[in-house]
Amino acid sequence: MGLQPLLAAVLSRWVRQPVWWLPVHLAFLPAVFLASALNLPSWIYLLGFSLLLSVFWGCAKGDVPLFLSSVAVGDELAGVIEREGAVSLIDLGAGVGSVVIPVAKQFPNLKITAVERAPIPYLILSWRCRQLNNITVRREDFWSCCLEGYDIVFAFLSPSVMQRLDEKCQNEINAKTGLLVSSSFPLPNRAVASVVGVGQSALKLYCYRFGRSSSFYS
Ligand SMILES: C[S@@+](CC[C@H](N)C(=O)[O-])C[C@H]1O[C@@H](n2cnc3c(N)ncnc32)[C@H](O)[C@@H]1O
Repeated sequence: MGLQPLLAAVLSRWVRQPVWWLPVHLAFLPAVFLASALNLPSWIYLLGFSLLLSVFWGCAKGDVPLFLSSVAVGDELAGVIEREGAVSLIDLGAGVGSVVIPVAKQFPNLKITAVERAPIPYLILSWRCRQLNNITVRREDFWSCCLEGYDIVFAFLSPSVMQRLDEKCQNEINAKTGLLVSSSFPLPNRAVASVVGVGQSALKLYCYRFGRSSSFYS
């Protein structure tokens, strides 16, 4: 039993997993033995699995998991909204509303659409937005939402979907008025229109306009 966690930790470093995986590998098997020694009823495991599934809904199929933006991201996005004079915004994968709720409170005239499809985040989001008349919460796959007509498209996703997002934005965002604001992850093949720093952190908001001339390769 002592060997397996060590072996997993060494292999993890060998395949260059991020360093935070180390404690996970080291603690996993001891945790399994500890849990089985507790003789918990099996429904507890089913409950735990169901809760995780309801939060990280589409991850097994490649959806981006839930990570929450900080307050500073909402603050910087507010600056972009002001500069753009935006009247509408969509958050692709709104999570529990960490960005849309502060922004909706700051801009009561901004029409916000918050799209989220994982059940528990969606329920929390809907509950938190219940008194905010300028937010519409939709339980949908954002890949099927049309982005035409939004002044700002906000996304905090993952590097693995950025190329697909670029193609979607190129086809749907209005070239004159629309702006994609991508938190943390740049589009791989497109010239950025502006980059906004977020507080003291290394985090950035990458802003893109669309239209033929703005792509590196098209
Ligand atoms: C990294 S979190 C960002 C949450 C929020 N925008 C924020 O900044 O705090 C990504 C969210 O997108 C949701 N998501 C991922 N793929 C989705 C899809 N295809 N349709 C709708 N929501 C999706 C996830 O459930 C997750 O809540």
